[in-house]
Formats: sequence, C-alpha cells, structure tokens
Amino acid sequence: MLIGQISDSHMLPPGETNHAGIDPAARLKAAVDAMNHANPDLVLHTGDIAHHGTPEAYALAKEILEKLEAPIYLIPGNHDDRASMRSVFSSENWMPDKKTPSAFIHYEIDADPLHIIMLDSLLPGQVGGQLCDDRLEFLAKQLDHDTRPTIIGIHHPPMAPGLGGFAKIGLEGADKLAEIVSRRQQVIRIIAGHNHRSVMGVCGGVPAVVAPSCAFPFAFNTNKDASISIAFEPPGAALHIWEKNEGLVSHTISIGDWPPPRALR
Ligand SMILES: [Fe+2]
Ligand SMILES: [Fe+2]
Repeated sequence: MLIGQISDSHMLPPGETNHAGIDPAARLKAAVDAMNHANPDLVLHTGDIAHHGTPEAYALAKEILEKLEAPIYLIPGNHDDRASMRSVFSSENWMPDKKTPSAFIHYEIDADPLHIIMLDSLLPGQVGGQLCDDRLEFLAKQLDHDTRPTIIGIHHPPMAPGLGGFAKIGLEGADKLAEIVSRRQQVIRIIAGHNHRSVMGVCGGVPAVVAPSCAFPFAFNTNKDASISIAFEPPGAALHIWEKNEGLVSHTISIGDWPPPRALR
C-alpha cells in the first residue's frame, strides 16, 4: 500500500499570488501531478489547506484536488476555517458532523490493512495547535476499537522542530498524545505538517514525520530569535510505503519541473 501526503497548500482565491510571488494553485497542481505519477492508494492532506480560510480558496483547492486519481482526505490546520472548509467539502463521505459548522473535523479511515486516524488540532485564532480532552478522548476511542497498524494524521507536529519562530506555536496536549500512543502498540507513525520542511522526531516512542509544504518551504534557521521566513527552495510532499513484513517507510519528495531520471551506468 502506498499513502501520499500533501500538506500546507495555503491556497488563495483564484488568480492570487502570495507576497513572495508564489502561486499556490500552480504548486498544488504540481503536487497533484506528482501524486498521480507516484500512484498512491490514497492521499492525505495534513492541513493549512487555505491561507485565509475562505470558501473561494477551498473551492479552488477542491477543483484541483479532484484531478487526483486516488481518494483525498483532509484535516484543518491553523490557517483553516472549519465552517468554510465544511461548506465546500460537505459532500465528502469522510466529513463528520455536516450540520455543525464548528465541529471538529476528525475521523477515521479504513485503509485495510491499515487504520488511519485524522485529528483536528485547530485552535481558532491561534497559530499553535491543541489537542483538548474531547479530541484526545476521540483518539483513544478509535484506538481502542481498532487495533490494526495505525497512522495518525495531524497538522501540528507533536515535537518542537528546533527552528526559530516555532517554539510558541507547537501542539498543546502533545504530552497527552504521547501518553496515549505509548500505551498502545499499534500506532506506527504520526504524520504532520505545519513546519513546511521535512522533519523527523518521536512522540511516545512513535516515529513522527513532518511532510514539507507543497506550496513553499520555510527557511532552516535554528536561531531562537529568528522569525519564520519563506525559503526559495523546491516545495515537496511525502509518500509512505506499507509492506506487511517491512512495516511503514516514509519518503519525502521534491516537487518541480526536473529533467527525467537517468539510469545508473
Ligand atoms: Fe502552513
Ligand atoms: Fe500551520
């Protein structure tokens, strides 16, 4: 089984570019092409779908994501707005609680032989994320009723990336998440976004992987006083390969208009 992951598309309404001159729609189209080339069984978007959380940006994201050959599942990040996201993706069968605009957008995916739990770490008005008691209880319940190998998707990574500007915008409740996963053997990976770079860490003994942004990377800078900057490096995505005997291996890929691969001699 192959699982694609795209993250942090930061979509704007049609025709708009961001202050760095980046067109997120063009970047998301390139990510969709890269995913279709890799041919995953399903694709997970780990949040910050739309930069300002507007319905127009979600509508454009939906139009582009419909070109994916595999099914797509989305969760919100700190830039997202649950009500707008719900209004545009209300016909998706994974969307929970279609009648409650502000309800958490968290759900499980039966990706047999895997179980995927998509969590909602959005705390409206904040850049940092949160797993409150209600969301932690949702997670614990899903883990208790299904013990197949499990991937948890969440926008905010459960570990600090060591980058300037990120110290105060982490995940409140990460310690409780660590406690929950450490008590259950089936969680094989936590996948996240938010850092806009490829980052690896551990949460409660479980490997945690951050996918790069498919729109724009943030600069690598460990100076604690540094502010977050957009880096003019290639955007990227992640691919997770599951083989029964090997377990899960995770890759990150760069997305761009590269020359075709050349065989080794
Ligand atoms: Fe982001
Ligand atoms: Fe984020």
